[in-house]
Amino acid sequence: MNTETLNHTIQNTQFYKDVIAGLQASPKHLQSKYFYDATGDKLFQQIMDCPEYYPTNCELEIFTQQTREICASVIADGSPFDLIELGAGDATKSTHLLRYLLQQKAKFTYMPIDISANTITYLNAALPAALPGLEINGLNGDYFDMLKKAAQLSDRRKVVLFLGSNVGNMPVAEAEAFCRELRSHLSTGDRVLIGVDLKKNPKTILAAYNDKQGITRQFNLNLLTRMNRELNADFDLDQFEHYPAYDPATGSCNSYLISLQQQEVHIGDTTIHFEQDEYIFMEVSQKYSLKDVKALGTEAGFETTACFIDSRHWFTDAIWQAI
Ligand code: AVI
Repeated sequence: MNTETLNHTIQNTQFYKDVIAGLQASPKHLQSKYFYDATGDKLFQQIMDCPEYYPTNCELEIFTQQTREICASVIADGSPFDLIELGAGDATKSTHLLRYLLQQKAKFTYMPIDISANTITYLNAALPAALPGLEINGLNGDYFDMLKKAAQLSDRRKVVLFLGSNVGNMPVAEAEAFCRELRSHLSTGDRVLIGVDLKKNPKTILAAYNDKQGITRQFNLNLLTRMNRELNADFDLDQFEHYPAYDPATGSCNSYLISLQQQEVHIGDTTIHFEQDEYIFMEVSQKYSLKDVKALGTEAGFETTACFIDSRHWFTDAIWQAI
């Protein structure tokens, strides 16, 4: 393909449109959902193994130490239900829950929803082998489209898992809108188990996004590599620096890439100008207090019926019931 045709093809992709809109805006920003190409997935796995990145271990502790109590909230009156997981990934945490629910002879179908078709194919095959007796119906697509589909597939009550503090990767106003939309897809009495990273010592939070091995740095810079490869861009990775910042006043941990010099970057046919020290806003990882978590639920039409917390009080998995 010649460069002209190639650029024309690239310019029609949503990725290109989002990147250009974000980099032509002031301040410049990119969408963190684009971190997760194959390399980004691997780097995120490595982040979760970093000693400084506590959220995964905290949530795993909650799931392993408080399985019985969590399952009691999920099983509720014992009526059959659909257990829907938004962004299931490899389902490591939910596996504890699934195993215990099977032992309790709970009547449920596990419906992981993921935007990655590979993930769903893998889960549909691997989980029933690891968890005999598990009924699984993985759904590949957008969260809300698939929630609609789940409602059409059965009229059983729904329990939605939204783990890993993924809600934190939305700015607060967007998270509020997301939770309201989630509520609109549910019926009164349905439940949500939502994992949220809590506000804590700012140094602990900052270290989690600035690990000593530099994996988070690579994770951020990988989006530039992805644009170079997929959008025919020419970012020089040595001219951008990873800069995370946590603000205890707002609870937002923001990550930026700083342009180390005045420079021009080409993306397809578009030229983007950077001033020296200009930043690209890459991602927010919002932290909440327990009170904030409850307020987020209330505002969206849920009542918080339980908050499971790890031993260090760093992370919570809250149960919201639709009212
Ligand atoms: C996926 N998400 C909850 C992670 C977080 O903590 O915000 C993504 C991440 N970004 C940098 N480190 C981890």
